[in-house]
This record gives sequence, structure tokens and C-alpha cells, in this order.
Amino acid sequence: MTNAIRIEQLVVEYPVRRNVVRALDGIDFSVPQGQVVGFLGPNGAGKTTAMHVLLGFVRALSGNAFLFDQDVRDSIARERIGYLSDVTETHRFLTGRETLAFAGRLFGLKGRRLRQRIETVLDRVALEEVADRRVGGYSRGMLQRLGLAQALINDPDLLILDEPTSGLDPLGRMRIRQLIADLRAAGKTVFFSSHELSEVERVCDRLVIVARGRVVAEGPQSSVVPPDENLETFFLRVIA
Ligand SMILES: Nc1ncnc2c1ncn2[C@@H]1O[C@H](COP(=O)(O)OP(=O)(O)OP(=O)(O)O)[C@@H](O)[C@H]1O
Ligand SMILES: [Mg+2]
Repeated sequence: MTNAIRIEQLVVEYPVRRNVVRALDGIDFSVPQGQVVGFLGPNGAGKTTAMHVLLGFVRALSGNAFLFDQDVRDSIARERIGYLSDVTETHRFLTGRETLAFAGRLFGLKGRRLRQRIETVLDRVALEEVADRRVGGYSRGMLQRLGLAQALINDPDLLILDEPTSGLDPLGRMRIRQLIADLRAAGKTVFFSSHELSEVERVCDRLVIVARGRVVAEGPQSSVVPPDENLETFFLRVIA
């Protein structure tokens, strides 16, 4: 089976003053196609950095990263990828619908197909009611939903979501769980970071747990977490 994501011995350092911070210290993991994989780790473990390497925002010092077997250093098409950033950046003066139209055009969507796609993703994240309001007046949860809608606009095969449930109310979280289940049922791959262990426990096929820039546990959830432990106690033990 092809892997949607493959990361090999990846090292990333950031220059900080005259020193460097080693954010990734030789991580290795893969995300099989069609699976939902949770990316866990304490603050500063390197989750966002690993995602940034996959998206081409950050260059690794050494090691390799592949999306659908293509090296991320090559100028590959990212048409098959949807991405939700951990920070929401939007144009305050556009409405939600306009924001999605803009995102869709970046992927070459237009006309009726674009309009249909916008309605589909608005429905997916339950944002129709406020879709014609300016984004500047959105609440945190609304912005998060808009970010998710943006990540879905191109109907991607792989979704890379950096803390998708952060800022969402219980209903919003439930909808994200449902959305992830629907994506899996449609054969998509979802790779998402989260600090919500109970959410992760419910939706993930596999886990990748990182600490201090290294993988400390990886595999199918059922075989990673021992039967006499829950995810929280296991997590706290392996990151220690
Ligand atoms: N642009 C940057 N410049 C300098 N250091 C950075 C930069 N981005 C990340 N780091 C450092 O790299 C390490 C990993 O950070 P990263 O944001 O990848 O962690 P994370 O696992 O996503 O954490 P969180 O759960 O808080 O989102 C941290 O030590 C962080 O301070
Ligand atoms: Mg992060």
C-alpha cells in the first residue's frame, strides 16, 4: 500500500540568536493511505514543524519527506492536499463565501463547479448561516470552521490538520469527528495533530506520538496502547 506521508530521519533546526533550536531530531513515521492518523505530543514537540516540512514552508537540515511518494523538495503539485494551519489567517473584509471562492480559484475551480463546492464545504462545517458576513466579525470557532472549509475546498485526498478541534464547542467537535469519519469512508487520508486525547481515542486508526523532536510511539491505536492503559495514561508515560 502506498503511504500518503512518509518521513525519514528528518532533522529541522531553527536559528535562534547565535544558537539553534533542534525542533525535529531525526523523526521517522508514515501515514498509510485511507487511514486517520493522530499526531500527538506535548507543546513544542515538533508537530507543527513536521507539517510545515510536508507543506514546503520549512526546509529540513537532513532526512526526507514524501507526499504520495513524491519528495516534498520537488515542486510537486499540492492539489491533492488540504491544510488547516494552527493559526487562522484571513482577509477581514471578505465574507466567508468570498474567502472560499478565493481559495477555490487558487485550485482552478470556477463557475458552477466552484459555487457547488463552496455550498458543499459550508454545509460540511455548518457555516451557511454566517457565510455572507465579513470574516473580521467571526468568532474563534467560526474562523476555525472556515479554515476547515478552506482545507476541503479542493476535495483533497490527504488532509493535514493542525489542531482542527481547537476553539470549537462540543457540537463543533462532534461535527469534526463526523467529518473525519465521512472522509475516511470516502477513502481519504487524514493526518491531524491534537491535544484532545479523548477525541483522538475515538477517531484514529493510528497514532504517532512525538516528544522533543523524536517519535516515542507509533502504530495502530489498538496495538500501541496496552490493554490495561488508556490513551491518557499511556501518553503521559511515554512523553515523560
Ligand atoms: N519559527 C521558529 N523559530 C524558532 N523556533 C521555532 C520556530 N518554530 C518552532 N520553533 C521551535 O521548534 C520546536 C517545535 O515547535 P513546534 O511548533 O513544531 O511544536 P508543536 O509540537 O507544534 O507544539 P504545540 O503543541 O505547542 O503546537 C519548539 O521548541 C519551538 O520553540
Ligand atoms: Mg503546533
